[in-house]
Amino acid sequence: MGEIARKLMIVEDDPDLRAQLQQCFDSYVVCVAKNREQAITELRRHEPAVVLQNLRLHSNSECMEEGLATLAETLKLAPHTKVIVLIDNVDQGIAMSAVAQGAYNFYKKPVELDTLRLIVNRAFAISELETENRRLQNQVNESPLDGIVAASEGMLAVCRMIEKVAPTDVTTLLLGESGTGKELLSRALHRLSPRADQNFVAINCAAIPENLLESELFGHEKGSFTGAHKQTIGKVELASGGTLFLDEIGDMPIALQSKMLRFLQERVIERVGGRQEIPVDVRVVCATNQNPEDLIAEGLFREDLYYRVSEMTINIPPYRDREEGRLILARTLLQKFSASQNRAINGFADDAVQAIESYSWPGNVRELENKIKGAVIMADGKMITAQDLGLAGNGNDVESLNLREVRQQAETKAIRVALTKCYGNISKAAELLGITRPTLYDLLNKYGLSSDSYSKKAAP
Ligand SMILES: Nc1ncnc2c1ncn2[C@@H]1O[C@H](COP(=O)(O)OP(=O)(O)OP(=O)(O)O)[C@@H](O)[C@H]1O
Ligand SMILES: [Mg+2]
Repeated sequence: MGEIARKLMIVEDDPDLRAQLQQCFDSYVVCVAKNREQAITELRRHEPAVVLQNLRLHSNSECMEEGLATLAETLKLAPHTKVIVLIDNVDQGIAMSAVAQGAYNFYKKPVELDTLRLIVNRAFAISELETENRRLQNQVNESPLDGIVAASEGMLAVCRMIEKVAPTDVTTLLLGESGTGKELLSRALHRLSPRADQNFVAINCAAIPENLLESELFGHEKGSFTGAHKQTIGKVELASGGTLFLDEIGDMPIALQSKMLRFLQERVIERVGGRQEIPVDVRVVCATNQNPEDLIAEGLFREDLYYRVSEMTINIPPYRDREEGRLILARTLLQKFSASQNRAINGFADDAVQAIESYSWPGNVRELENKIKGAVIMADGKMITAQDLGLAGNGNDVESLNLREVRQQAETKAIRVALTKCYGNISKAAELLGITRPTLYDLLNKYGLSSDSYSKKAAP
């Protein structure tokens, strides 16, 4: 790999100092910003490893709120960034709280360029060491669970649990929304177990008609039912010595659940139409995207079976909750698909990053995979855009991170809903919104909305 350019961002509202600093650091790739909004835009665009930020972002203001908010937003968006805050002599206390918030260091003005250069240089060196360290750690984390990207705290915890239970024979239940990786993780459980060189047999309890499921699972003897022309071995027996994966266990018909319970207790099966008890040694892993407690409450799942299958329960977090891991997984998938499609794509454009961060991903990793696969095929440029992902202009899902915009969007939406419900009646709508009529009029003016179009008369 070639040398990676060192990117520095300077956030300073004083144009003279900004220019002076820019010149001083011209050996780096420098981007500049004069306020919070620009800083966040530049941060997204350039992902600088080090940021030099004045903590007093309004030169005539006594208050550091803006500076601290910029720092907080920077670290929230890119937690590994090394932020050095510039302070005045009098700001010592606030500098400490900046460091407590996660700033890497602070530097007292007046600026002495040589010293500052040393500090910045050191911040780059530390940042690079940490990046390398994380890369190596990820390699260690990833290698036993091949092909599984686990970059968020939640997924790392899941992988650690998988590694711990894999060597045992404990019956394990994987819980997670559709597309979160239950099957992928069940295969990892098998691969890491002493049974790895035996069969991994999966059966989807939701996909097989109820009347066939028993014979699929336990097999049948010749002539045991119409169409049973020959003796057939079931999935449980096929998995003998290895792992049986009961996918969508929540959909197992209640009648079959007692037979499954018996098998789990006694570890013997009887084929349909057979009289012989056949001992089977399998490790059982189950998965469902339903809530077992709800199923039990509704009488759809036997409580005793639930306790049998959940000797160990692993909860897989939905993709949207994976915080810092979301983009890492998206990037990994992008690399994978652009390599397999032979397309030279460099990464995600800003709007795609924002869309990935704010979309709700009901289909989880599977949906992400599909969208990225599609985007790699569709992309015209070197960067994947929100449009390529099919997430452009979807106001409900792609939210702005700019607080003012978010507030405006939320307000307009609430007002529209209230007006719709009240057929444009201002008094009622204001009451519903918990504001006075004049305030509602002000807001209608501000957002260019008219109550008339919501009145009953306007309805088609
Ligand atoms: N952490 C991950 N790293 C890489 N790929 C993943 C990860 N999690 C899931 N995938 C991929 O996402 C897709 C969906 O995963 P999987 O089929 O295991 O989900 P599932 O929970 O069984 O879904 P469903 O409930 O719909 O059956 C697969 O192609 C899988 O390879
Ligand atoms: Mg599945």
